[in-house]
Amino acid sequence: MRLIPLQDAEQGGAWAANYIVEQINKFNPTAEKPFVLGLPTGSSPLLMYKHLIKYFKAGRVSFKNVVTFNMDEYVGIPENHPQSYHTFMYDNFFNHVDINPNNIHILNGNASDIEKECQQYEEKMKSYGKVNLFIGGVGQDGHIAFNEPSSSLCSRTRIKTLTEDTRIANSRFFDNDINQVPKYALTIGVGTLMDSEKVLLLVFGHNKALALQAAIEGSVNHMWTVSILQTHQKAIIVCDDPSTNEL
Ligand code: GLP
Repeated sequence: MRLIPLQDAEQGGAWAANYIVEQINKFNPTAEKPFVLGLPTGSSPLLMYKHLIKYFKAGRVSFKNVVTFNMDEYVGIPENHPQSYHTFMYDNFFNHVDINPNNIHILNGNASDIEKECQQYEEKMKSYGKVNLFIGGVGQDGHIAFNEPSSSLCSRTRIKTLTEDTRIANSRFFDNDINQVPKYALTIGVGTLMDSEKVLLLVFGHNKALALQAAIEGSVNHMWTVSILQTHQKAIIVCDDPSTNEL
């Protein structure tokens, strides 16, 4: 595992965006052989998206031949809800770059057949071979995507019940009212993430210090699902100074 300790989230976002641009350009994607990029939501990747848009506008990168898969989506709120991950992705990234809408994949939290939706998502991902690079954040309790504590480390895309801790943490986006926070989400599994060629995790803020400690110094275990990255051949963690408090 490669650790990139930087001063703050601004530097971290710029580092991650630069890394993504380098990876895409080195791959030199075409319509026949696109670059497959896994993407997260949350506050951690916001600056990364800001920098990616800037680099796109400066002509440093094109997303025309990039295929994306998002990590997760809430269940039970409409796609156009201001806090859906669908809305987040279009507002913060997709609407500002040259990505082909057909290349965007986001789980449908309102699918009538959830199991089928999750299975098809996995199949679609596999149809491209491997995800070249999956970007992620981490929850305070060490969850990656929505793989809450006690998720199987071999899990695939499925529905998960959100823990109360996660719902409290995410209530800041729902008028600080936990009752408005969905109880369930669709999420890629830990196994799905581990299948990616490279994984880049963004960890910012003192409230992530225990999760970062578990990710780097803890034993690999299903109560801190992020710890599995210790067994990934090409995992990078970009973190800021406050998040390293417990190391
Ligand atoms: C949610 C998302 C995760 C994200 C986490 C942390 O639970 N499902 O993918 O990593 O929030 O979010 P933030 O970056 O806002 O702290």
